[in-house]
Amino acid sequence: MTGGTLSRRQALAGAAGGLGIALAGAAGADPAPPSPSLQALARSKGMRFGSAIAAGPQGSRPEGGTIDNPAYAAVVARECGLLVPENEMKMQALRPDPATFDFRRADRLMAFAADHALDVRGHNLLWHNTRWLPAWVNDFDFGSRPATAAEKLLTTHVDTVCRHFGTRIKSWDVVNETIDPATGAMRDTVLTRHLGDRVIDIVFHAARQALPDCQLVYNDYVEWEAGNETHRAGVLKLLERLRRDGVPVDALGLQSHIGGDSDLTGPAGAPQEAAWRRFLEEATGMGLDLLCTEFDINDRAFPGDPARRDAVSADYTRAYFDLTLSFPQVQDVLAWGMVDRFSWLNGRAPRPDGLPRRPCPYDRDDQPKPMRAAIAAAIQAAPPRSAPHAPHI
Ligand code: G3I
Repeated sequence: MTGGTLSRRQALAGAAGGLGIALAGAAGADPAPPSPSLQALARSKGMRFGSAIAAGPQGSRPEGGTIDNPAYAAVVARECGLLVPENEMKMQALRPDPATFDFRRADRLMAFAADHALDVRGHNLLWHNTRWLPAWVNDFDFGSRPATAAEKLLTTHVDTVCRHFGTRIKSWDVVNETIDPATGAMRDTVLTRHLGDRVIDIVFHAARQALPDCQLVYNDYVEWEAGNETHRAGVLKLLERLRRDGVPVDALGLQSHIGGDSDLTGPAGAPQEAAWRRFLEEATGMGLDLLCTEFDINDRAFPGDPARRDAVSADYTRAYFDLTLSFPQVQDVLAWGMVDRFSWLNGRAPRPDGLPRRPCPYDRDDQPKPMRAAIAAAIQAAPPRSAPHAPHI
């Protein structure tokens, strides 16, 4: 495969057996853990590799991709240098009501990270979408001076959370997903009703004030497939506005949920490589760093046969990271979970054939898949990062 170039035809050819990537971990392979680890490979290039992990109950997945599952924790500890809590630092998790901050689950995750000498990213200070705000925020009584009350709600939250974790967290997703992919405009919430677009400015300024040396990230699911054009344009417009207004945003988090909810094998799922490159050039042209914050692949429409499916996913993985990691501004790569059976995608629309999904670098038996080898190969092929781009790394 040529670096950063993938067509649907090539992906399917790869699935038919023409892959240039070692199928480490495929059925019958040596069960010994792959070496060097993804973090060791990343570190050799001046990067970090990490994953989401959970500390609390996982709802419909009770055994969960959590620190309490020894097999899962072992995979994460072995492969990663960096963690991000899948849910535990969200406002919904930390704030059961307006008066309470409950850090217990997040603190368990911080302790796990410390025990294994892992860095932690914060996710997130404000998920600016009515659906993901706590119900008490959506129902909040903002009183007779609503703008003042809304600003206070935000600054109290950001200040308290940032100071609780302090300098142990050197990179925060400050605002998550505020751009509506359908329109490219800011989402309307109860907060914008009183503060307008200033919601975003207030949160970034409060984070900078609490943690002056922390990397402050805007995180969103602007992906490289067709269908993301309006979303990408909207995010660039927001970032330009923030830079113009002196709002302290340091980096753009590329969630990297490849495929989103779309059918990757159809025209709507075609990677737009030239447009993706332009998008990354425009973001970095503003002086922003980049991170891949939530990588996984929606394999809903890929072939049923596990080996063929894994081959297609590995080809997508390699092509995506070959292009994206060619930007030295990307220093952190995180998977949104390492093991198939705990992926959040298991809760989405099932595959038409009813087969279990395979969205992660490791399979349901904690064995590495071709996707893991593709990530390793892309990291090995990436240009070395000569020096950190920002003081927080
Ligand atoms: O823990 C409760 C459980 O007590 C309760 O019984 C159950 C009932 O539904 O819910 C459980 O909480 C669920 C939680 O995951 C833990 O499993 C929530 O309902 C569910 O909404 C939540 O989903 C998370 C989602 O964000 C919303 O917060 C996913 O795990 C998580 O993977 C997903 O992550 C997001 C990123 O934060 C932002 N980018 C997209 C990414 C994928 O959607």
